[in-house]
Amino acid sequence: MLKAVEQCMLTWIKELQNDELYELFTHLPHGKRLRAKLVLKIAGESPQSVKLAAVIELIHAASLLHDDVIDEALTRRGVTSVNASDGSKVAVMMGDVLYSKAFTELVAFDDKIASSVASAVTILSIGEYMDVKMGESFNENEEAYLDMIYKKTASLIEVTSYCAALLVGKNEDDYKLYGKNLGLAFQIIDDILDIVSDDETLGKPALNDYKEGKTTLPYMYLYEALEDKDKKRLKQAHLQDLDSNESSWIKLQMKEHQSVERSYALARTLSDEAIKAVSQHDEKELVLILEDMMQREF
Ligand code: FPP
Ligand code: MG
Repeated sequence: MLKAVEQCMLTWIKELQNDELYELFTHLPHGKRLRAKLVLKIAGESPQSVKLAAVIELIHAASLLHDDVIDEALTRRGVTSVNASDGSKVAVMMGDVLYSKAFTELVAFDDKIASSVASAVTILSIGEYMDVKMGESFNENEEAYLDMIYKKTASLIEVTSYCAALLVGKNEDDYKLYGKNLGLAFQIIDDILDIVSDDETLGKPALNDYKEGKTTLPYMYLYEALEDKDKKRLKQAHLQDLDSNESSWIKLQMKEHQSVERSYALARTLSDEAIKAVSQHDEKELVLILEDMMQREF
């Protein structure tokens, strides 16, 4: 049924009658299609659920096109990013086309679904804005980080689960909570993988977040645990191109202070909360999605 979601997106983009954009769209790497899978698992397979999944995936694709421009990323999912191959202007405009087409299709849904997705995209954009601003200086505030990743990542996953439940009359609040906690855990794992994985597995440069300014959870936990002299050293490395000496030092310190393990433990707690949220609905597939997400390597 994921195939039907791909086909739906292709049909919508074809309708726009711009061959170049269509061509570019067909070359975008697919990714995990986590949001589409969620819709199909929660709402089952119907023409409406396929369309909802396609709307959400187009919004997600648009957000990543813009995010790669903002982050000046050269690769995405192992291939050259659109901003790197065709320039930032093309990437920004393609993002605009995808997300306005998604909204055009979204308005055909009932008001509750249309307005909640629209609001979530506003929150998503505020989250990305916060990520940009927080990246300007070292951040040691865990609450601010969690608020930002809720907005930047979890809000869209939360609304995806919520709307899928609405489509089929399931308890939307339980599924909303599942989506929120899944989304938070997802971003924490993403931030951990940046540290523990390598370029090839990730399909993008590893150990890149801190250089980009992102003080992710493992860095915050490490900072908390270090002595003053080392705190200063860690802060000095923020926003810098790390040489191998400095990156080895950071990784060693993280090992000693179990910063990654502490971050993983929080992701695990959130993932358990997600499972709890839908525990009375016998949703084995949703538990499997969570497990795959927690154990993923990219
Ligand atoms: C990836 O974060 C980015 C996001 C999860 C959200 C991006 C949102 C926007 C650009 C605003 C919304 C825009 C539109 C057009 C709807 P990351 O940089 O931490 O992850 P990465 O390593 O995968 O790039
Ligand atoms: Mg990025």
